[in-house]
Amino acid sequence: MKIGIFDSGLGGLSVLNEAIKKLPNEQFLYYADRQNVPYGLKSKEQILSYTTHAFKFMQEKDVKAVVVACNTATSAAINELREEFAIPIIGMEPAVKKAADIFKNSRTIVIATPVTVKGKKLKDLIARFDNKSLIDLVALPKLVEFAENEEFYSQRVRAYLKNELLKFDLANYSSLVLGCTHFNYFKDTLREILPPNIKFIDGNEGTVNKLKYELERVNLLEDSTQEIEYYYSDSKVDSQVELDRIYRYLKRLDRMILID
Ligand code: DGL
Repeated sequence: MKIGIFDSGLGGLSVLNEAIKKLPNEQFLYYADRQNVPYGLKSKEQILSYTTHAFKFMQEKDVKAVVVACNTATSAAINELREEFAIPIIGMEPAVKKAADIFKNSRTIVIATPVTVKGKKLKDLIARFDNKSLIDLVALPKLVEFAENEEFYSQRVRAYLKNELLKFDLANYSSLVLGCTHFNYFKDTLREILPPNIKFIDGNEGTVNKLKYELERVNLLEDSTQEIEYYYSDSKVDSQVELDRIYRYLKRLDRMILID
């Protein structure tokens, strides 16, 4: 049986990329809801309806577990999805706890979508350990659109990031949490703009560790030949042009892993 990796678009490939390395004997179904991307500007009801639809679709394709490789969908819908679907569901939240553990008592900026930034889930998570108010939240919805269009380093992207991030007194910060899976593609661009004292933190590795742990726990790890199927909403991606596009994203992510 397959592992479903779900995102509103191509951001979740960053989780898939980690998963295929850590779980080389599994089969994967990557579902990018490109018909409805971006989720970060939609209502909770809309996101719940899109994700429920996608989960039903993936269930019909026999997935044994799903990673919601999308902070926005996790924020808006994970509780309801867990109630409705009786398979292991691994969600994703901005890795603020990891940032706090590594860089104790120093300031952090979390970049995410508006839904994640405004959502109760992230507020609750931060309230649990940020009693000194060291975390600032910034919504960067346009980055999702740039990422979907394979635009990672244009003048527009750099101007947008500078405008949103250089207003902080960055010498006082130690980390930037990539709280949206689409943002992993911009690490080189961000590295150029931000001072070297700011390190990047993402939740990809932690999420895949959780997936592996969960599959082990319920005895669902497999030992088959790795295969990956891609879907754009309910359509299987089989054109070579689109597959090549996905491989370009995965290659970019391999380069981004080396940047901290
Ligand atoms: N990739 C998603 C996330 O991690 C959301 C992007 C969007 O559709 O707005 O939050």
